[in-house]
Amino acid sequence: MAFRRLCERVRASFSRGVLCPLQSRTLASSAAARGRCEALVYHKHGEPLRVIQLETYKVPQLHDSDIRAQMLAAPINPSDINMVQGIYPILPDLPAVGGNEGVGQVLDVGSKVTNLKPGDWVIPSDAGLGTWRKEAVGNMNCFIKVPNNIPLLCAATLGVNPCTAYRMLCDFETLKPGDSVIQNAANSGVGQATIQIAKAMGLKTINVIRNRPDLQQLTDSLMSMGADYVITEEELRKPEMKELFKEIPKPRLALNGVGGKSATEMLRHLEKGGTLVTYGGMAKQPVTIPVSALIFNNVKIRGFWITQWKRQHGRDLLQEMISKLCDFIQAGVLTAPVCSKVKLQDYQTALTAAATPFISSKQILIM
Ligand SMILES: NC(=O)c1ccc[n+]([C@@H]2O[C@H](COP(=O)([O-])OP(=O)(O)OC[C@H]3O[C@@H](n4cnc5c(N)ncnc54)[C@H](OP(=O)(O)O)[C@@H]3O)[C@@H](O)[C@H]2O)c1
Repeated sequence: MAFRRLCERVRASFSRGVLCPLQSRTLASSAAARGRCEALVYHKHGEPLRVIQLETYKVPQLHDSDIRAQMLAAPINPSDINMVQGIYPILPDLPAVGGNEGVGQVLDVGSKVTNLKPGDWVIPSDAGLGTWRKEAVGNMNCFIKVPNNIPLLCAATLGVNPCTAYRMLCDFETLKPGDSVIQNAANSGVGQATIQIAKAMGLKTINVIRNRPDLQQLTDSLMSMGADYVITEEELRKPEMKELFKEIPKPRLALNGVGGKSATEMLRHLEKGGTLVTYGGMAKQPVTIPVSALIFNNVKIRGFWITQWKRQHGRDLLQEMISKLCDFIQAGVLTAPVCSKVKLQDYQTALTAAATPFISSKQILIM
């Protein structure tokens, strides 16, 4: 809780500035020498392509407990888009810099900073930093150190999706090797992390994706990451699904990033007493629970939000989870999702791709 209060205090102190919370003091770069820095800024909520622009801001001063980091890479996630649209549960004050995760390299530390030094790699410890910028300045406790020998794209995409996948696999059902998990949006960032972490835990995954022209290519890609079964939404509804459960046990855990019919169909295959965890709603449709699933199968319906988990559990547990995930990366069992690297100044290309269906590639802004 102390960690959460600290981050809230930091955010509040920023709201008086030109930018939102952490953002009003988080600019700079080699441009620091000139006192200016570039960032992707929005002054009002709306469709990202309309409201986001590349702007230059005055570099803030480094205080005793602050660090200054050069941002290296930052993804465009659906929640970043929702924040810009103004439809996310937490919204920074305007004007704001977009982006909630990414990796930076420490350039400078204030006199009271003991846990970080120049050259270290850091990721944000909470949502709201505004990572689509060349440099960030903030209180040392608003960053978590990660090893600087892991691949850049792994570090840039570590703080949200792999953490979400890991928690959902660990916190809702006690699963043992050989058990199975079913998930939709299996080619999403969360989905790809789930496939790999589940594999490392000895779990079997049933992975549901939308049909598409390059279905075989995507199936092969997910299988190469460790998926056991890849099926389309249409196949999920077919009676042949019964055959699959002659090979593996019915799942006790279903992970739903889509909502609507897709979630309802996954529920039909859930083991009695199993849990459906909803973490995303890409189809923008409510989850409908068949009465029979509740009465006869006694399924548990839960939700998960990684931001809430981080705020409730604090820095130490977050650092512990990040270390565990970095061990997976260093052991070669967890890789970055399939990515497209785009220069910060070409952000419109990246924003367009991020909103395109069936793209199967996380857009990463390279600073
Ligand atoms: N609760 C949490 O803590 C938490 C944490 C991380 C992410 N999330 C949420 O999880 C979801 C996925 O995030 P991500 O970063 O992993 O996504 P991503 O890498 O950007 O991938 C988006 C996924 O959504 C699918 N999709 C898009 N529109 C769809 C539709 N109308 N119907 C079905 N599927 C659709 C895409 O499938 P196609 O390839 O078929 O287009 C793709 O699999 C988002 O809603 C995000 O906000 C929540």
